[in-house]
Amino acid sequence: MPTLFDPIIIGDYRLSNRIIMAPMTRGRAEDGAVPGKLMEDYYASRAGAGLIITEATAISPQGQGWLNAPGIWTDAQEKGWKAVTYAVHAKRGHIFLQLWHMGRVSHPDFLGGKLPVGASAIAAQGETNTPIGKKSYVTPHALTVEEIQAIVEDYASAAKRAMKAGFDGVELHGANGYLIDQFIRNGSNQRTDDYGGSLDNRLRFLIEVAKAVVNVVGAGKVGVRLSPRSHYNDMKDSNPIHTFTRAAELLAPLNLAYIHTMEALPGHFFAEEGERVTPHMRKIYQGVLITNGGYTNKLANDALAAGEADAIAFGVPYLANPDLVQRFSQNAPLNSPDFTSFYTPGTKGYTDYPTMDLKA
Ligand SMILES: Cc1cc2nc3c(=O)[nH]c(=O)nc-3n(C[C@H](O)[C@H](O)[C@H](O)COP(=O)(O)O)c2cc1C
Repeated sequence: MPTLFDPIIIGDYRLSNRIIMAPMTRGRAEDGAVPGKLMEDYYASRAGAGLIITEATAISPQGQGWLNAPGIWTDAQEKGWKAVTYAVHAKRGHIFLQLWHMGRVSHPDFLGGKLPVGASAIAAQGETNTPIGKKSYVTPHALTVEEIQAIVEDYASAAKRAMKAGFDGVELHGANGYLIDQFIRNGSNQRTDDYGGSLDNRLRFLIEVAKAVVNVVGAGKVGVRLSPRSHYNDMKDSNPIHTFTRAAELLAPLNLAYIHTMEALPGHFFAEEGERVTPHMRKIYQGVLITNGGYTNKLANDALAAGEADAIAFGVPYLANPDLVQRFSQNAPLNSPDFTSFYTPGTKGYTDYPTMDLKA
């Protein structure tokens, strides 16, 4: 029975443990969506993870829409990330970049006044933080087929740059209501062409992006993140089990490094009503499965022992504990997260969580 502390082969890599740092947006990039020294320190101090998955990172100017989130479309951004990957590798860590297009939940204030884009012209309900305060989401421009193809190319270019910046691989952000997810789920996709209507059509964009990125970086360096039941960003789907088991079925032949599901355990603040989808995906997907959402050391080891997943990703526990692997291995107490500094600028709540050594 594997435990969190056993090594694992994921795609092209042998990871020293099964503790994955989940992707977390922290809003600390410098001007121009460029990662700086602060981000380098943050990731380097968490290099004990079997694999770090970075915060969501915009693939293009059109894909951005979160205050001070990083990008991967300019030379300066590539250079900033290079320092991050160098620092993580110097500590023998592994790091994948999460590739992000926000689609309809961006805002014209981030896009030079242009409308954000989506699968269909359906606005998300709710508000977003723009550079000049909270504003309602707008109705997006429904992408034409030609425009969709251009975005597939943008993913491939971003993946290429990520490899130039020294990343070990990339994770496609297909979760949490961003562009890929907006195509997948029928609450946000009511197209009637090849990219909508039937389930396989709704999954076409995901598969095309995955294939394009695999072509550029190789299958063993690509993961996909999905969040089958998340309602975040006003997402809805009429049959999540059917939708996401089919996604796993269509991804399987690509031999990706992994599929990563974000599906919070009951009782967690991200938990959703209804039956969990990950166990259904597990049944039909033979590749590496990472899962996430509300796991503790014990719950994660139980899940691995029960064969529910091959590795477990930790978000908030990693945010607050740079030495999470060491703490888990010694069953040591964890630092409490400071929710007020999740997205605020500066070192507070970012690079100042103490390690056990410092506390002793
Ligand atoms: C501050 C913060 C930022 C997050 N940003 C991202 C992100 O950029 N990409 C993503 O896929 N999920 C993101 N998430 C979700 C986490 O990856 C994870 O799924 C969630 O925290 C649940 O896991 P946990 O219970 O281990 O924290 C974020 C969560 C938090 C708390």
